[in-house]
Amino acid sequence: MIEILPSILAADFARLGGHITEAERGGLSMLHLDVMDGHFAPNFSIGIPVVECVRKATRLALDVHLMIEDADRYAPLFIEAGADCVSVHQEACPHLDRTLRMIQSEGARAGAVLNPATPLSTLAHVLPFVDFVLLMSVNPGFGGQKLIPYVLDKVRALREWREREGLRFAIEMDGGVTLDNVGVVAEAGVDWIVAGSSVFGAPDAGAAVASLREAAQQAVAGRA
Ligand code: DX5
Ligand code: ZN
Repeated sequence: MIEILPSILAADFARLGGHITEAERGGLSMLHLDVMDGHFAPNFSIGIPVVECVRKATRLALDVHLMIEDADRYAPLFIEAGADCVSVHQEACPHLDRTLRMIQSEGARAGAVLNPATPLSTLAHVLPFVDFVLLMSVNPGFGGQKLIPYVLDKVRALREWREREGLRFAIEMDGGVTLDNVGVVAEAGVDWIVAGSSVFGAPDAGAAVASLREAAQQAVAGRA
């Protein structure tokens, strides 16, 4: 089942709860929350207090994407604040096996994230136990960027790897997804599709979610 995950980075923070409710009307089960520390990613976004408030404002599963230098220190705090899924960047985690297992032991689903240019092979030893893999289709830091096409080949290769090895992780993709390319993204094999500006930048976020999901499901309708 393909999921659309709106990224709140593109939401109107002056009415965040209402904007999330508007998007929920399109049929969602998860919400993507981008955390940036101005070091790993060249931007600042949200922290623990916002996750705590969003936790109270919605029953959606919270997918917290940590674009930060010290995930070992902060991941437990985001889980305590209400994160159901926590993803950490391979590029920022020298002890990735331990970090991912710590997230799971803290009760959240653990995701490994790769920037566009980072090879899949860097995750070879964690794929057997990780809950999901997040492939960045833009360079981290900002919403509204263009999808980097070669990441679709990474999705296809990762999907084949999962099938070949009989593994169970979900494939998530993040950045530059629009109504024009969501079909190709779905066809490549993405299970969880993150969309920021194409949802919260639309006049009606709920309608945008529904259109994206409809286009994604149509694209894979013929797939066995
Ligand atoms: C970028 C973030 C993405 C971004 C997606 O650093 O990780 O989640 O918010 O926004 P769009 O869909 O507008 O590219
Ligand atoms: Zn993200």
